[in-house]
Amino acid sequence: MKYLLIYFTGTHNTRYLTSLLKRRLELDSNEVDTIEIRCETEVVSTEIYDYIGLAYPIYGFNSPLPFNKYLRKLVFTKNQKYFIYKNSGEVWALNNASSRVIKRIMKKKKCRFMGEYHFVMPYNIHFRYPDEFISEALSYDKKLIEVMLYNIDHEIIYYPKSNVFYDIASIIVSIQKIGGNINSFFYRVDNKKCNRCGLCIKNCPHNNISLKNKNIHFSHHCDMCMACSFFCPKDAIKIGFLEKWHVNGEYKFDQIEKIEREKPYITEETKGFFKCFYRYFNEIDMMYDNIYNILSERGGKK
Ligand SMILES: Cc1cc2nc3c(=O)[nH]c(=O)nc-3n(C[C@H](O)[C@H](O)[C@H](O)COP(=O)(O)O)c2cc1C
Ligand code: SF4
Ligand code: SF4
Repeated sequence: MKYLLIYFTGTHNTRYLTSLLKRRLELDSNEVDTIEIRCETEVVSTEIYDYIGLAYPIYGFNSPLPFNKYLRKLVFTKNQKYFIYKNSGEVWALNNASSRVIKRIMKKKKCRFMGEYHFVMPYNIHFRYPDEFISEALSYDKKLIEVMLYNIDHEIIYYPKSNVFYDIASIIVSIQKIGGNINSFFYRVDNKKCNRCGLCIKNCPHNNISLKNKNIHFSHHCDMCMACSFFCPKDAIKIGFLEKWHVNGEYKFDQIEKIEREKPYITEETKGFFKCFYRYFNEIDMMYDNIYNILSERGGKK
């Protein structure tokens, strides 16, 4: 089968998730192409693909604007099969409505919905996740990939259930629409710390950053993806009214994946913020075990 995986990413979590999916698909001898969306990404032809995978990080219970904009430009064949694999830092049900715009666009294009899956990746804003938790979350991401591919293959349409309340909340909180542009007026660079390495300019998916009079300058087409401040090697960028939620420093997924966990990070006793993952991980375990049992009965492998 031929897959095209189209994704937007700010701080590379969605890029990493896509690389996990690509590797898994290639194990089964599928052909996989990927497109990372930036403002200059060219429109590609999609008709040669059997499946289109759409991936994005959830921003304020919504899909990122550049992602929606790019999808609107694409031409699909009638009944082209697509699935969504979105990701975010937490699994609150309010995130369930985040694909409403994408689904509307794809419906207009008469594409065939094959399911929607919500993966957990670490926060790139608010606070930094501990490596031990990320390692556990990645192991569940891999299980969910198995569930997703099994369901797609067997035409089982799974998706997070939304309702009118979630839809309304998601419409109200679509912060990146104007929030990012306004916030970018308040971005500041500490010129004593900044070494003019240009990484923020290179990483910005919206070409919103430039060098002016030897200083870093922000224009006002910001998607609030956080790539600039997150990857800055000198932690020199202040992110306006979100500064209190500033997270700096890349997650080293390749190293995190190698962590050997002696006991589960999330248990029934987990309290506070991380408590929500107990149910989420359990649901994945149940779906995964179910598929594993079916395959075992048929003499298949895990
Ligand atoms: C502006 C902004 C808004 C966000 N809103 C949410 C949210 O509503 N729910 C959530 O679970 N995570 C939220 N996050 C966290 C990201 O979805 C998460 O860290 C994601 O994995 C980032 O993916 P990326 O590295 O591919 O950009 C938000 C992040 C940013 C920068
Ligand atoms: S990434 Fe940081 S140090 Fe490098 S140019 Fe940008 S602000 Fe300066
Ligand atoms: S200015 Fe920073 S936060 Fe805004 S789009 Fe560019 S990299 Fe992302």
